[in-house]
Amino acid sequence: MMEGTSLRKLVVSIVIVMMMVELTKAELHYVGGNKAGWTPNTNFSEWTSHEKFLVGDWLFFGFNKVLYTVFEVNETSYEKCIVQDFIKNITKGGRDVFELTEAKKYYFICKDYCFGGMKVAINVQDIPAPAPAPDKNASPSNHSIQVTPVMVLAIAMIWAFLFKYY
Ligand SMILES: *[C@@H]1O[C@H](CO)[C@@H](O)[C@H](O)[C@H]1NC(C)=O
Ligand SMILES: *[C@@H]1O[C@H](CO)[C@@H](O)[C@H](O)[C@H]1NC(C)=O
Ligand SMILES: *[C@@H]1O[C@H](CO)[C@@H](O)[C@H](O)[C@H]1NC(C)=O
Repeated sequence: MMEGTSLRKLVVSIVIVMMMVELTKAELHYVGGNKAGWTPNTNFSEWTSHEKFLVGDWLFFGFNKVLYTVFEVNETSYEKCIVQDFIKNITKGGRDVFELTEAKKYYFICKDYCFGGMKVAINVQDIPAPAPAPDKNASPSNHSIQVTPVMVLAIAMIWAFLFKYY
């Protein structure tokens, strides 16, 4: 049978991992605002103006793979709609994801419809350090550290193991 102390350590470790997962949760952005948003009819600058992209987030390109494609290109190729010598071909089945691993500007275009406006520039920022005090003027964000049910449960469990069963 497991000793009380090692069981306690195990539970505390599990709880800490759960809390870390909760705090570093990445966001999945549906490009264009929905699961089929990668189309020529979407206003992508309008869409990005309402989104906040942080390092570790993911993009989801949902589209008809018969008609459309997704390529990561550099800024020049984005402006001029040039697919040749692209950085990455993201086109697979039309439900394709891309991880934003760096704080920089990423550029994506559709090969045949880029001139029609089917292209998007994504400005990725570093994850901000937790603010010392809540700012009433700050816009709500999914990334801010919030007290979630998992955290409440975690704290309750740590409390129980450290004090009640000691
Ligand atoms: C896209 O949205 C932006 C910002 O709302 C607007 O300025 C622009 O005219 C729109 N473009 C098109 C093609 O509708
Ligand atoms: C962008 O990529 C194209 C094609 O590979 C290349 O010719 C061009 O020099 C690149 N531009 C920049 C600014 O890196
Ligand atoms: C991009 O990838 C798709 C799916 O793997 C493939 O069918 C297509 O030929 C590729 N396009 C280019 C230009 O490499």
